[in-house]
Amino acid sequence: MYRVDSPGRVNLMGEHTDYALGYVMPMAINLYTVVHAQMSNSVRVYSQIFHDVHEFPVESPAKSGDWSDHVKAVFWVLKNEGHKVGGVKAIVGGDLPVGSGLGSSASLKVAFISLLNRIYELNLLPVEIALLAKKAENEYMKVPTGVSDPFTVVNGRKGHVLFIDTDALNHSYIKFPESARLIAFYTGITREVASSSYAERRKLAEETLRILGRHSSIDVSERDLRTLPSLYRRFFGYIVRENRRVLEARDALRSSDLEKLGELMTTSHCDVARNYDVSSEELDFIVKRAVELGAYGAKMTGAGFGGSAIILTDEERAIDVAEALMEDYMRTFNWEPEYHIVIPSDGVKARIV
Ligand code: GLA
Repeated sequence: MYRVDSPGRVNLMGEHTDYALGYVMPMAINLYTVVHAQMSNSVRVYSQIFHDVHEFPVESPAKSGDWSDHVKAVFWVLKNEGHKVGGVKAIVGGDLPVGSGLGSSASLKVAFISLLNRIYELNLLPVEIALLAKKAENEYMKVPTGVSDPFTVVNGRKGHVLFIDTDALNHSYIKFPESARLIAFYTGITREVASSSYAERRKLAEETLRILGRHSSIDVSERDLRTLPSLYRRFFGYIVRENRRVLEARDALRSSDLEKLGELMTTSHCDVARNYDVSSEELDFIVKRAVELGAYGAKMTGAGFGGSAIILTDEERAIDVAEALMEDYMRTFNWEPEYHIVIPSDGVKARIV
């Protein structure tokens, strides 16, 4: 029997920069997709979260519009890239919430690629696993995400945040202070518009790079944007500033300056809300209240339009801030949110049990 523990992720800094080949500073978190599996001729997957079973052939599995599409996407991409795999019987569970903006789709895909890599001895490198997961998401699921989520799920390290240059695809680790905590606070909202609005932003960023004749957002300054139409200027201006904030956040973390890191997170959120139009009333409320309640800072994490926010606090204050915010949120939106206090964890692990 094989077991895979595949973490979720939060993004501490560098939102919507990865598809513009910029900088990102995410971490894998201690909430996991867990898969138990054994070799088989065809594929049979059971979800402990959705309580349903899906069976499909290894070759050319057809989409069914549910969670199993993420698994089918994995079989599809492996075949497409010339990797020979057989089937599995698998049980999927774990404590990573699904669909709340904590990287559950990347986590599930990386879990299955790592599982098949182990069972069928594909000898894939970590970066190849991340790129296959991205390809599966982009080409089978048709969601044009960047590389940062699967890259983080693969390369996470306990007690550390990753700094990723998404163009060079290299990364380094920065220690996350032991006393610090992040509250991943789920708004309860997964917006349908998310994927089309995400795709529009990505298209605009790529067009801006094309117009400017640049390869990556790292090579662009705000001055370069002066001659562009105003929407391009506003959207890409945000990306340029966010790249800079990732570097500043890396410096703040290197000197364990949580005040500075928190400030940068809140500034990042205000910028993404004002200039990139991917926040929501609920996310803005969480960020504002969290800061009023004494957090170092807060911001949305992931694609936005709902999903989750992250709040930076000390270990001692984390529960009090989260509980107070929970009450305020329920009173304001008449909706019971969900929160998790998270720390940086190791990346995916596939082993025999
Ligand atoms: C989603 C995508 C990532 C990234 C973020 C925004 O999580 O999967 O690639 O673009 O949104 O930072």
